[in-house]
Amino acid sequence: MTLTENEIADLTRHNIEVWNRCAASYTSNFEVLTRGAIATLLDLANVGKGTSLLDIGTGPGTLIGPAIERGARVSAIDIAPEMVDQAKSRHPGIDITTADAASLPHSDATFDAVTIGFCLHHVADARAVLSEAHRVLRPGGRLSFAVWAPQEDLQAFGLAFGAVVDIVELGDVPDLQPPAIATTPADYEDLLTEMGFEQPSARVLELSWELADGSSMFVGFDGFLDLSDQSPDLRDAVRRAIDDQISKRVETDGLAHLPNPAVVAAASKPR
Ligand SMILES: C[S@@+](CC[C@H](N)C(=O)[O-])C[C@H]1O[C@@H](n2cnc3c(N)ncnc32)[C@H](O)[C@@H]1O
Repeated sequence: MTLTENEIADLTRHNIEVWNRCAASYTSNFEVLTRGAIATLLDLANVGKGTSLLDIGTGPGTLIGPAIERGARVSAIDIAPEMVDQAKSRHPGIDITTADAASLPHSDATFDAVTIGFCLHHVADARAVLSEAHRVLRPGGRLSFAVWAPQEDLQAFGLAFGAVVDIVELGDVPDLQPPAIATTPADYEDLLTEMGFEQPSARVLELSWELADGSSMFVGFDGFLDLSDQSPDLRDAVRRAIDDQISKRVETDGLAHLPNPAVVAAASKPR
């Protein structure tokens, strides 16, 4: 399914609103989970000393610190200005730009590596983003990305969504969803080949969200789903429902371990 130009504009506007709302708290909720993919993404993109790396959909700069620690020269972009502000204050002096991944401001063949952490499944046109990643990579350069595994496997997100939809009418969430990109690792490998990459590889990466209680998960989904217009009673009910579900899953180490697997994929631009 491809979207019309108007639908792409609507979805892009919606993404900017959602991620601006999530920016201030992202490092204490969703990033606690997505951090589990950083080392794999950097390994798959061969990021090491001297690598020039572009991180697309960087959010608050999730991959930037670990890439710098490896000796990489990092640039990053994100479409949400408030995410870019967070990333800049966390990583002063790094080239971080507000830009749409479907239309990158960089010249052809600029980077040795491109990483895209948990962004591709939100964009209106994932093929346009992959095509831009291909354009800005040098011949022989490496791309890696992470997306969430199919919804039915995401126990952490399922717990939160379940608590919300049991209690709240989500009237404001637009019907328009990003078109599905692919499902299985093999589908992602086919997509990378179709987009002109070679040596594609993809696999499931087991991640889990480890939580002592529901407070940070509530804050994350409050921003993501925009529950701010709900009454204080309904918001409290959602918060308690999430807490309740998590308390049932807490193990002897004092934490609930909620599986939320990703698919990680990588490929090279032909020389
Ligand atoms: C789930 S966050 C991922 C942040 C971080 N990379 C991580 O691994 O946790 C998705 C990010 O993608 C950004 N994003 C969504 N659509 C985008 C687009 N078209 N171009 C650039 N960034 C986009 C959002 O603003 C948000 O910061």
